Amino acid sequence: MDKILTASLEWVDTRFPLTKMWNEHLAQYYAPKNFNMWYYFGSLALVLLVLQIFTGIFLAVNYKPDATMAFASVEHIMRDIDYGWLIRYMHSTGASFFFIVIYLHMFRALLYGSYKKPRELLWIIGMFIYACLMAESFLGYLLPWGQMSFWGAQVIISLFGAIPYVGEDLAVWIRGDYVIGDATLNRFFVYHVVLVPILLLALAAVHIIALHEVGSNNPDGIEIKKNKDPKTGIPLDGIPFHPYYTVKDIVGVTVFLILFCTVIFYAPEMGGYFLEHNNFFPADPMKTPEHIEPSWYFTPFYAILRAVPDKFLGVIAMGASIVVLFFLPWLDRSPVKSIRYKGWIFKMALGLFIVSFFGLAYLGMQPSTPIKTNFAQIFTIMYFAFFLLMPWYSKIDKTKPVPERVTD
Ligand code: HEM
Repeated sequence: MDKILTASLEWVDTRFPLTKMWNEHLAQYYAPKNFNMWYYFGSLALVLLVLQIFTGIFLAVNYKPDATMAFASVEHIMRDIDYGWLIRYMHSTGASFFFIVIYLHMFRALLYGSYKKPRELLWIIGMFIYACLMAESFLGYLLPWGQMSFWGAQVIISLFGAIPYVGEDLAVWIRGDYVIGDATLNRFFVYHVVLVPILLLALAAVHIIALHEVGSNNPDGIEIKKNKDPKTGIPLDGIPFHPYYTVKDIVGVTVFLILFCTVIFYAPEMGGYFLEHNNFFPADPMKTPEHIEPSWYFTPFYAILRAVPDKFLGVIAMGASIVVLFFLPWLDRSPVKSIRYKGWIFKMALGLFIVSFFGLAYLGMQPSTPIKTNFAQIFTIMYFAFFLLMPWYSKIDKTKPVPERVTD
């Protein structure tokens, strides 16, 4: 049996670099030995990407992208199709978990300076993934054709209308009609199931290739490639990704699956955060819901939009709050990467940023009142100050000496 397997592998290897790729990306990819739990989220993001595509295919089999049938087809999936409810809850819960995982994944980069040289491009690719993910969830949200699907899309698309001169034409072009209707639903369906998933898959592959070119950062922010064994050329603080981290990642996946299943089986709507109450009513263009709010993962940016009194300037501020993240590698001028060796100024700035982000997230879910708008304005200033003042405070911050080798 062994002989047959070896011969088969040889046959493949002379025609396709299978063993070479296995070694390059797994068995001989040397990752720092001090990864902590923050390093689970990359592999969890991969798991979620696969899960969303897999469950999405099964949903698409029974879903009807037609304004007169979409809502009923989702109900049909939930009530009549074998395990349709499970597939749908996996997909809707998966969407929210994807954002939780990605936010933690991005926060890890913030903690350990993983966006700094030589990983700037890796970070930028990540930001493109994040932008695609936002587009993907926004497009998918219209598909159940519930009240929140319809009115959420109405609010977001009308934002484009605020752009001077071209805005209205742009909004019509996006909708494919003067109002959100069948044409909009059809094209959103195609973008959601074909266009953006292809982009996401391609970007995720490019993300890993870029990561393996520069090598992983670690909680100490030390470049392990600087300390190689003179004989073997292997980093002294590196261990082969496989089997060490493949096995370790299974622990992360197990914990994730426990949490994921708990939500799916016991709280799939998550109190209206994962599936909104209003979306159990079919879309009605004649009946505007009293309170329209986006999904929880968009609320910080929605709060920034509402904090600015002028609609167009609000759109600019909201866009800028995401665009500014692309520039993070050049805003951080600290000589050290990891928060472990940064001084109190950076730590305080990060703390205030966390407060502003959660504050905005909360306010974005609330109906606006004058006092809440004032708070949103304060948090918006804090949010931008974190990034725009970074070139200054990251330079004057008193850092600690970084050790030569990684610590455990
Ligand atoms: C589909 C979404 C994504 C997938 C599948 C993914 C996958 C991965 C994987 C497997 C790793 C290596 C393991 C780890 O460090 O956790 C990684 C590292 C990294 N990712 Fe992502 N990622 C995604 C999105 C993002 C986003 C949105 C960003 C930032 C905007 C980002 C930035 C980074 C950075 C900077 C690293 C290197 C971290 C380090 O070495 O310390 N990724 N990613």
